[in-house]
Amino acid sequence: MHLENLRINHFKNYKQADVQFSEQVNCFVGKNGSGKTNLLDAIYYLSITKSAFTPQDNQCFQHDQSVFSVKGEFLLEDKKRQVLCGMQLGKKKLVKLDDKPYRKASEHIGKFPVVLIAPNDTDVIRGSSEDRRKFFDAIISQTDQTYLQNLITYNHVLKQRNSLLKQFAEKEYVDKDLLQQYDDQVIELGTKVYKVRKQFIKRFQPLVSTHYANLSEKSEKVNLEYESHFDLDVKQLIQESRQKDLILKRTSIGVHKDEFHFLMDKRLIRKFGSQGQQKSYLIALKLAQFDFIEKEKGIKPLLLLDDVFDKLDDFRITKLMEMVASDAFGQIFVTDARPERTLSIFEDIDHEVKFFEVKDGNLKALE
Ligand SMILES: Nc1ncnc2c1ncn2[C@@H]1O[C@H](COP(=O)(O)OP(=O)(O)OP(=O)(O)O)[C@@H](O)[C@H]1O
Ligand SMILES: [Mg+2]
Repeated sequence: MHLENLRINHFKNYKQADVQFSEQVNCFVGKNGSGKTNLLDAIYYLSITKSAFTPQDNQCFQHDQSVFSVKGEFLLEDKKRQVLCGMQLGKKKLVKLDDKPYRKASEHIGKFPVVLIAPNDTDVIRGSSEDRRKFFDAIISQTDQTYLQNLITYNHVLKQRNSLLKQFAEKEYVDKDLLQQYDDQVIELGTKVYKVRKQFIKRFQPLVSTHYANLSEKSEKVNLEYESHFDLDVKQLIQESRQKDLILKRTSIGVHKDEFHFLMDKRLIRKFGSQGQQKSYLIALKLAQFDFIEKEKGIKPLLLLDDVFDKLDDFRITKLMEMVASDAFGQIFVTDARPERTLSIFEDIDHEVKFFEVKDGNLKALE
């Protein structure tokens, strides 16, 4: 699979851009703030129907604009597929495949998988448990639509249960039967989500360990553990926490509280790992993501590498480039603020490399 071309309108700092990509390596070079990351984000948006960097769609509209769109043509199994994501301020997002709108944008996720490595973005390691849940949910969702739809429904039920708790608190009255109905749904949907996460981590963990060992010069052992209320008697936990939930007016038991522990020699990397170890772990997670999606779907995801040459040391860059040279990846998109560096890194690799200069939201292919 690869992305043949991309057309952007009023997305972030791009007024308009129209690009033809190389099937292999595409490098975007330009000064800080020129729009390199935004371009990767537009590609990410085309695949995931969301920005990787800005949680709200409102921030994707070019300043003072009320419409934006990203449009691209993929070649997938010898067929051209056209994807359009567009939005008008205050309206529902529109996502179309071959001119046919989806009923729900989420149905598009996983059709054209993508992996983004942005070493600057260490939230998944150092951030909250929500950051880690989001990270894993994004991987599983790209390979399992049923999981994604169950998760969406779970979050919906959770919202309803929470607003019910608020109503009960305001009225100082509790309808236990009604609350029980929500509890049952939290348990039923939560169990489905839990089972998939548990099974997923079992398969994902060895991939992370292998990549970490390859990327780090030391021999510390890393691990990945999953912890959920569903490991225990969740029915009883929900019962026991009812009183607390009514006081807090939110649900304290469920898969929305799951935690993923990243460990190194049995200690939390987030607390005890050095910066280099955290970085290696992050890259190992992303490379494992690539492997997992490829195994599940039989296609190589697009690989977006944001600022890796700036943020990784020579050793890790060499390792990454060994993988590029070995054809481990498919189509690649790289950003760098220093053109001569990217040039020299890709010089020795037997791949077609296309360079683009990015300047104030304008793109120019360099010959
Ligand atoms: N919604 C928006 N509308 C217009 N401009 C925006 C919008 N969002 C971000 N920008 C601008 O886009 C620019 C940042 O672009 P981007 O992050 O892609 O830069 P970059 O080339 O990756 O820079 P760096 O080398 O520092 O990583 C900034 O100048 C920012 O002000
Ligand atoms: Mg950038």
